Amino acid sequence: MRIDIISVLPELLESPLGHSIMKRAQNKGLLEVHVHHLRQWAVNEYGQVDDYQYGGGAGMVMMCEPLANAIDSLSKDRRYDEIIYMTPDGQRFEQKIANRLSLKENLLIICGHYKGIDQRIRDHYVTMEISIGDYVLSGGELAAAVVVDAVGRLLPGVLNDETSALTDSFQDDLLAPPVYTRPADFRGWKVPDILLSGDLKKVDEWRYEEALKRTIERRPDMQQE
Ligand code: ADE
Repeated sequence: MRIDIISVLPELLESPLGHSIMKRAQNKGLLEVHVHHLRQWAVNEYGQVDDYQYGGGAGMVMMCEPLANAIDSLSKDRRYDEIIYMTPDGQRFEQKIANRLSLKENLLIICGHYKGIDQRIRDHYVTMEISIGDYVLSGGELAAAVVVDAVGRLLPGVLNDETSALTDSFQDDLLAPPVYTRPADFRGWKVPDILLSGDLKKVDEWRYEEALKRTIERRPDMQQE
């Protein structure tokens, strides 16, 4: 999979995407992430990419021309399956969206800043608008990093058995069950006997029950089939 990201602050994306599983995914050639500085497509030599909003009011708006030129230029080399705009008024990001996006070949993500991007880019280019939650970040970069991480780790070959995505929270509309490691007794706090029993079927049943219990307690809003 290839993900192109348009940003005015590419530095913000370097660290979250340059370590651990995201680094491994890229080193293995399973995920390619290219961050493009929007200023390359600025409208003048001052690097201008934003302007005052029509109708007045505080806050700048990211202009049409740099964004349209950036998208046109990047679209010459490949057809994007989705052109995604990160915005707090977008569709709430969740595991099912990550699963769906992980099946795509080419994604383009636009990170907004200031008051956001000119509505005409949203109307004529953007195919999907994503919010990572009901709060406002100072820019779309951290939100884009969240999406790239959640999607990238689902690509076949990125995770090994130990980190398999199949047992993650949300994959079966269930939160993940509790986990334990050695020692079996720490300060008298004991690991549940069943996990030490060696009976894999019983362990699986226990994990399912615990996941269900946790989900009902903590996330009654999650649908149980
Ligand atoms: N940009 C600013 N806040 C955001 C959010 N909550 N989700 C996605 N993009 C954003």
